[in-house]
Amino acid sequence: MRPPGSTKRTSLDSSVVRLLVTGGAGFIGSNFVHHVIAHTDHHVTVLDKLTYAGNRASLAGLPDDRLSFVHGDIADAPLVDRLTAEAHAVVHYAAESHNDNSLDDPRPFVDTNIIGTYTLLEAARRHGTRFHHISTDEVYGDLELDDPARFTETTPYNPSSPYSSTKAGSDLLVRAWVRSFGVQATISNCSNNYGPYQHVEKFIPRQITNVLRGQRPKLYGAGLNVRDWIHADDHSAAVLTILEKGRIGETYLIGADGEKSNREVVELILTTLGQPADAYDHVSDRAGHDLRYAIDSSKLRTDLGWKPQFGDFEAGLAATIQWYRDNEPWWAPQKDATEAQYRAKGQ
Ligand code: NAD
Ligand code: DAU
Repeated sequence: MRPPGSTKRTSLDSSVVRLLVTGGAGFIGSNFVHHVIAHTDHHVTVLDKLTYAGNRASLAGLPDDRLSFVHGDIADAPLVDRLTAEAHAVVHYAAESHNDNSLDDPRPFVDTNIIGTYTLLEAARRHGTRFHHISTDEVYGDLELDDPARFTETTPYNPSSPYSSTKAGSDLLVRAWVRSFGVQATISNCSNNYGPYQHVEKFIPRQITNVLRGQRPKLYGAGLNVRDWIHADDHSAAVLTILEKGRIGETYLIGADGEKSNREVVELILTTLGQPADAYDHVSDRAGHDLRYAIDSSKLRTDLGWKPQFGDFEAGLAATIQWYRDNEPWWAPQKDATEAQYRAKGQ
């Protein structure tokens, strides 16, 4: 139940609110929950299906009186209806998030990213609940390596993979529910995140944990593809800023000017861990591999006053490497199965 006397709000100021965070046991969702507990007095309810990518241990140590955990599916309409009715705002992180998996089996991506988002939007519409949709820069497709352009809020959608096309579809659902039904929603599209609690299937944790295990990092293709890295805590601060100050119906791009080629990142990981910079292997490339992502986050910075705190990628990466050194019990249970899956594909 919503606390007695509380009302629905369309903008969240700094007073206490109840947030429903979907996917809060995943990488970025759990970082957001830690951020909210540390920087506000809000109460958080996490709704998470605990797929292979969800881990309750990512929320360990957070105070019981500030955090409730519900194990469930965002496509479960009765459950979503009840939880949305009790919340002041929904912050929607839950998704199937890995491009490689979407190439092997797209179906869960359609179910969660499209049907799940639809289910949440319908509940938000019924209850007048503020809704923030977490999305990705991949909806814009990719850029040439030498293109001076970066993605902005007006770049046309041109997704490449089953993952990014289902995220694009979910963004368009949100836009339609704002325009047609007056749902009080905002959208953010963020670049590649790094930081603690990221699953070892993803690029940076895979290479860090490979080196920690005495295995060589694996670069897809020539390793020239560029990603625009942002620390997950900077992403969380941006989302909180949008919840507090964002204009309903608007999209905000989130990025921290962190463009690096995959080869540069692997070399940094190796040298930080005391290995030769070239001690990596080239493996077969990802089908349809996007070449480069780059975000222009001027709108968020100018209109809402956000700026990243982790300006130094090398320092943020070193702290992330240290986190994986210190938290082997968190990642070790998934490492062997993840590597076996990659090996089977020649990656
Ligand atoms: P993740 O795979 O680490 O976590 C996803 C979480 O969602 C897991 O806890 C999983 O159990 C949960 N989940 C999956 N299906 C569910 C369902 N049907 N019902 C309830 N819970 C379900 O993903 P992530 O990297 O933390 O990404 C979170 C969000 O941020 C996604 O929407 C993703 O598109 C977006 N995003 C990610 C990045 C990135 O760099 N990782 C960048 C921009 C945007
Ligand atoms: O841009 C935002 C997106 O970033 C998010 O929407 C996705 O949820 C998130 O997974 C991420 O997508 P990428 O495909 O960019 O991330 P990934 O970690 O899978 O790969 C990063 C780059 O590294 C990409 O160019 C592929 C490459 N790669 C990946 C792995 C796992 C390798 O070279 N070797 C690897 O072993």
